[in-house]
Amino acid sequence: MTGILQIPEWWASTKPYINGDWVGPMTQTIPDRSLDMIITSPPYWSLRNYVDDSREMGSEETFMTYIHRLVTGFTGIYRQKLKDGGALWVNIGDTYNGSGGAGSTKEGRERHTQFGKGEYSGAQSNPTRAKGYPNKTMLGIPFRFATAMIDSGWILRNTIIWKKPSCKPSSAKDRFTVDFEYLFFFTKNPHYYFKQQKEPAKSKWWIERKYNGKAVKEYGGAKAEDPSGIKRRMIEKGSDGTRNMRTVWEINPASFKGGHYAVYPEELISVPIDACCKPGGIVFDPFLGRGTTIKVANSQGKIGLGFDLCGDYNTLIDEYLGL
Ligand SMILES: C[S@@+](CC[C@H](N)C(=O)[O-])C[C@H]1O[C@@H](n2cnc3c(N)ncnc32)[C@H](O)[C@@H]1O
Repeated sequence: MTGILQIPEWWASTKPYINGDWVGPMTQTIPDRSLDMIITSPPYWSLRNYVDDSREMGSEETFMTYIHRLVTGFTGIYRQKLKDGGALWVNIGDTYNGSGGAGSTKEGRERHTQFGKGEYSGAQSNPTRAKGYPNKTMLGIPFRFATAMIDSGWILRNTIIWKKPSCKPSSAKDRFTVDFEYLFFFTKNPHYYFKQQKEPAKSKWWIERKYNGKAVKEYGGAKAEDPSGIKRRMIEKGSDGTRNMRTVWEINPASFKGGHYAVYPEELISVPIDACCKPGGIVFDPFLGRGTTIKVANSQGKIGLGFDLCGDYNTLIDEYLGL
């Protein structure tokens, strides 16, 4: 390891990021089983052009090709780079089948939910209609991705709902406003590194109640559905007023005024990185953007590394990371 950012010797740059394709030749410089975890947010399908490059993810003709590329990259390359006890976290969003080019219709303008942002300056100008699917349908991309990953051998341990209290308002009147995204937590093997995460147990009324292994007669008064409800709450609560963390996380989208607006909030990835990477370990992001993953990893005493196809963000990354 060298330098304040503890860049590993095998990493082919003095900076923690490299400009390149996420499945390009540079992946071969990463030793097998060297990464503790991968956490990332690929561009959503047909959202916008970040860079004028045919290798850009999200610019595929069909969403099936997009999903196939993602699953092939994660399974064919990154699975090998992950330690056996490693984890892969992927934030991925859905797409409404638009009736025209991005930004040309109301549904087209609102069909993407990535990071709750409503900016379309980089939106693709070509129609992105998924042929054979009705207008206005969500295409189910997160579900298709997750099931394809399971079919490829990944273990899906959790689906996290990232609920956004301050989501982008919608002008749609014939459906509900989308205020969440998915974060999938995969592992390579059934046994893996995981530091349990706790959250405060909010229920107070049963705190003094002790479950002794028998049915609790007053469960009705305790507003539990049945005796097992009492038991469940006792188990969840533990003895220190906390319980095992749940899967709906309320986090506001990141507000970022720089040139790269589709960033995820530091808070969103802080818990996964704490849970799935041991101190001093390596957290990798193949779609780095402004470098949020590196920043949060470093803040926890972990090494953050990543790729991004677009060199235009380098100054942005340097400023954000204080390089
Ligand atoms: C949604 S952004 C990631 C934002 C990041 N999570 C953050 O917080 O800054 C997706 C990124 O993927 C990059 N990208 C697109 N295609 C790529 C490819 N083939 N290889 C590597 N990076 C790519 C884009 O340039 C963009 O910066």
